[in-house]
Amino acid sequence: MSHQAIYRKYRPKTFDEVVGQDHVTETLKNQIMRNSTAHAYLFSGIRGTGKTSTAKIFARAVNCTNNTDGNPCNECDACLGILSERNMDVIEMDAASNNSVEDIRDLREKVKFLPSQSKFKVYIIDEVHMLSKGAFNALLKTLEEPPEHLLFILATTEPQKIPATILSRCQRFDLKRISVKDMMANMNTICSDLGIEAEENALRMIANSSEGALRDALSILDRCLVYSVDKITYEDVIMLLGTVNYNTIIRFTDILIDKDIKELLMVLDEILSQGKEITLFLEGLIEHLRNLLILKSVKDGQSFVNTGEDAIKLMKNQSLKLTVDDNIRYIEELSETLALCKRAVNSRILLETRLIKLLSVRTVAVETVYIEKPVSVSESAPKQTVKTETSHKDEVLQTSNEAGNEAVSEVIAEDDGEILRQIQDNWDLILQTVKKRKISLNAIVKESQPHRVVKGEVILRFAEQYTFHLNRANAKESIEFMEQVFKNILKKDLKVRFIIEDSKKKESDEEIREKINEKAFELFGKEKVKIID
Ligand SMILES: Nc1ncnc2c1ncn2[C@@H]1O[C@H](COP(=O)(O)OP(=O)(O)O)[C@@H](O)[C@H]1O
Ligand SMILES: [Mg+2]
Ligand SMILES: [Zn+2]
Repeated sequence: MSHQAIYRKYRPKTFDEVVGQDHVTETLKNQIMRNSTAHAYLFSGIRGTGKTSTAKIFARAVNCTNNTDGNPCNECDACLGILSERNMDVIEMDAASNNSVEDIRDLREKVKFLPSQSKFKVYIIDEVHMLSKGAFNALLKTLEEPPEHLLFILATTEPQKIPATILSRCQRFDLKRISVKDMMANMNTICSDLGIEAEENALRMIANSSEGALRDALSILDRCLVYSVDKITYEDVIMLLGTVNYNTIIRFTDILIDKDIKELLMVLDEILSQGKEITLFLEGLIEHLRNLLILKSVKDGQSFVNTGEDAIKLMKNQSLKLTVDDNIRYIEELSETLALCKRAVNSRILLETRLIKLLSVRTVAVETVYIEKPVSVSESAPKQTVKTETSHKDEVLQTSNEAGNEAVSEVIAEDDGEILRQIQDNWDLILQTVKKRKISLNAIVKESQPHRVVKGEVILRFAEQYTFHLNRANAKESIEFMEQVFKNILKKDLKVRFIIEDSKKKESDEEIREKINEKAFELFGKEKVKIID
């Protein structure tokens, strides 16, 4: 027996079998029952949502001689004739290949004739946006004065390409993306009909990766059947899609939370050596981080997260360990990395570099500090090392951005002082303006204060705990944006730079040693620490 693709075999045959488009099918059924159908319809929506299927059902329903509730009966002569494509009154054409003016002129000639066997002559024109301009004009002429017996059903994935003159003559229906839940239910029905078992997780994974197109989901299901004979498992789907196992994503996120760069690189290596696509992995990771953020910041956020109960529990636990700040930063930076990876020659190096940068910005674990007193007075005494151990201590790394530490030593010119005053007076307004246009940047900039103005450069300063903000704020597009805001509000061309408060004055070696000794005393007790000169 030849294999018939599932999505062909299971094309819905009645309006009631169409999934997730009740707003369309119910209206059409009502029109049929009331004999109030129009002459032209446009079905729009992304691929695989049921446009062609609904058009075919509609073509039968208007001609069905046995119609009770608006659905075609699929048993009367009219229905059977159309189903078997023997009926010459239902004509399907693909605008992608019949888009010349002649094709449509030809059509205009034909529509004049009455239907031979049925009530309505139905033209289904698929991918109608592909028609040439001339063909659209010819079609328009027909739509302007449609004969009584004529029904046009146009379908398109790109309604914005259809001329307004055509649109205004059609009843338009937008088919929606199919929800994960509806897709899972549909696949479940199909699987039981085929006598195949399928793990719930497997179907969810398929639905999630189909982006609302049921046909795509059914194609994946089909491919799974090729190598899972009687049961479709989550692992099968993962393999087939080349995506990364959910557990790996959870684990990877844990490592992000711990900021353990070494472990991170190891797991990444594991993932890539299994031949997984970097971009698919990143997409999965970003989706997961998005779910964590929603669960953490939206009350009853579950409804926005497409996973099972178990996964929700895991996610909720994990979201407790991740600060909202870090969560947002990870999503933003990884999304940017994803876009770059899609274009990069060596996406692996890019990803590694970006991950290291992502985790280096903030904290470092200080494990061991060795103190050694350099010059001893008594040459005979043995040198000794005091070893202190501090637990994972959050220490702000002064990172790449030199601006952060730089002492600003220029003399303040008089009108710089005046500008600073103006900025301070208008600071609320400035922040509000930023907020209106770039809400995420506002969250950052509002933590800074106008600090000084030096030769036309506005220095905005963060308190020392905001290292992460500093890097974001000094990004080129943020700076350019801020400069524009200053220009709009103060009517002046100013440069902008963010710095961070440098409360730690440069300490002398002696002071540092003193401090470490104190720490050692505190940790081990004064009597246990000996410092030998
Ligand atoms: N809303 C839907 N309900 C049920 N099946 C659907 C639906 N949308 C798509 N399908 C499945 O996908 C296949 C292709 O659908 P089709 O109607 O050709 O989509 P479109 O024309 O929007 O690209 C159908 O045969 C069916 O198996
Ligand atoms: Mg179609
Ligand atoms: Zn019928």
